[in-house]
Amino acid sequence: MSSPRKELSGSMRSHHCGELRESDIGKTVTLCGWMNKYRNLGSLHFIDLRDKYGVTQLGFESYKGDVNDLRKFSLESVLLATGKVIARPDSARNANMPTGQVEVQVESIRLLSLAEEVPFLPHAMVQATEDLRLRYRYLDLRSKKLQDILALRSGAVRKARQALYNLDFVEVETPILYKTTPEGARDYIVPSRVHPGKVYALPQSPQTLKQLLMIANTDKYFQICRCFRDEDLRADRQPEFTQIDIEVSFPTLEYMKNLATHMVKNVFELPENFEMKSISYDEVMRDYGSDKPDVRFGLKQFNVTDLFKTSTFTTFAEVAAAKYGMVKGMFIPATMGTLARKDIDGLVEIVKPYGGKGVAWFKVENGAVTGGISKFVDAQMLSVLVERAEKQGNPKGDGWFFFSADKNENIAHDCADALRRHFGKTFNLIAPDQYAFLWVYDFPLFDYDAEANTLHAKHHPFTRPKDEDVELYFSDDKSKIKDVKAYAYDIVCNGYEIGGGSMRIFDNKQQSRMFELLGFTPEDAQHQFGFFIEALKFGTPPHAGMAFGMDRIVMLLAKTDSIRDVIAFPKTASATDLMASSPSKPNPAQTKELGFQWLKED
Ligand code: AMO
Repeated sequence: MSSPRKELSGSMRSHHCGELRESDIGKTVTLCGWMNKYRNLGSLHFIDLRDKYGVTQLGFESYKGDVNDLRKFSLESVLLATGKVIARPDSARNANMPTGQVEVQVESIRLLSLAEEVPFLPHAMVQATEDLRLRYRYLDLRSKKLQDILALRSGAVRKARQALYNLDFVEVETPILYKTTPEGARDYIVPSRVHPGKVYALPQSPQTLKQLLMIANTDKYFQICRCFRDEDLRADRQPEFTQIDIEVSFPTLEYMKNLATHMVKNVFELPENFEMKSISYDEVMRDYGSDKPDVRFGLKQFNVTDLFKTSTFTTFAEVAAAKYGMVKGMFIPATMGTLARKDIDGLVEIVKPYGGKGVAWFKVENGAVTGGISKFVDAQMLSVLVERAEKQGNPKGDGWFFFSADKNENIAHDCADALRRHFGKTFNLIAPDQYAFLWVYDFPLFDYDAEANTLHAKHHPFTRPKDEDVELYFSDDKSKIKDVKAYAYDIVCNGYEIGGGSMRIFDNKQQSRMFELLGFTPEDAQHQFGFFIEALKFGTPPHAGMAFGMDRIVMLLAKTDSIRDVIAFPKTASATDLMASSPSKPNPAQTKELGFQWLKED
């Protein structure tokens, strides 16, 4: 943490509250800070003065003023104290406090700002509710934890910038008042006084702009930018968040992976020989049921759909017969620990939020099968299951087989992923201090909705189909086009998607085809992206890019699992700012001036 000692002269204080040591004994110092604690022991009075850097004890034995005045200072009041640094008596030394060997004998003390009774004490052991802390965010931010995170975040941004400057990237600012930038969420829109009835959209990311910068010969662009997405929030999602946004001209896929490795290495301060493990989308889904697995532990899954096709266990037989049905298996070796019957029965609650209806299981005990669906498992099936489990790195021997199955393979994957994460926690398989990175590549270009026979961009509509799939891309059957693979990749760490990107379409016919496949009419595509499709016609270099989620990176660095901890003024899960009461109603004059009317008011 930087120290104000390196600051310019002219400060109100001579030292900060975390700074004084035995070597300072005898000096006259001036400290400023908040009253953290006041102790009145009759003849002795002490104040713990706190600032961002620490706490220093103030003593009043040689104070010439009236010590009774100290009682007028409330906790969290701001004080300025001048006095002499002395050694604490041996019995009062505090080895747990960096300034614990000394105290300042106050000669004069001044109240700079009297605090009213605060709704909660930022350093109290008892935590206030999160809503109260968000309502008074500036009080919560006084805590060491949050100030340390702000400093950590600032350091991470500095390292990211430096890593990119070292490769000659140029930071360019792009507009915030813009037009729709499809990243899969809804836009926040901003009406305009000058253009009644028309709106700007806040960028979901600067995607089209950074591509235009490549067409414009910028070659290597980056920006630490704010993105705005009106989507359902989760523990790792905010409606406005920060990206390290990057785009380059003339790269290969290898260059993009090297660039991602360079960024991760610099921001997480990893050893020079750090290499990011690569895994294809198909493999990652097969092994983990998730495209952002936490690979600090194993428990790899295996597909067993074929084994249940002719099973007398009709639930699974029906799943196996369904067009998009899937049965996934997972093995928990008995050496890992014990699972009581009630633990197993409780697993259904783990999969329910993901659409799962149950968790089938059986146990292998001394080589024989027992419990759950064991009556449907014969010796031959068991030996295939054991072989598949083993192939995925699971040990042989006694243990439990668990299965997640659904006629919709996405649900089977999601439930298998939820179970794996649950067991990872239950059996303490996750090393908290480790970072496990993955480069996931070869994503599908589309998500396919079989019922509606519609395609949706998996990454975004500017992602390039793989060369070998271009013919399929221009073919007619959407249920086959869904298999087109993309030059798209994600960077994953400890179960979080910390970044993503792709090689871009640089051919205007491919781009127009994309909008057509996504269901845009030619008029809509022209209206929303005509300027971009036109730009592609004037000489477009092959280009690619990525964006890292800065907030998620800081979450990992700070080892917190709430994104709100790493944002100075975050929003709640329902996208409100409890401190400023935002969003709020515009006043009627504003509404009139902007030329809009509410259809619905509450
Ligand atoms: P994408 O949508 O994958 O790609 O976003 C990139 C990274 O941004 C982070 N992220 C978020 N963080 C917090 N809250 C959110 N609501 C949120 N949404 C995304 C994630 C994610 O990996 N323009 C493309 C990038 C590109 O193709 O170059 C884009 O925005 O860490």
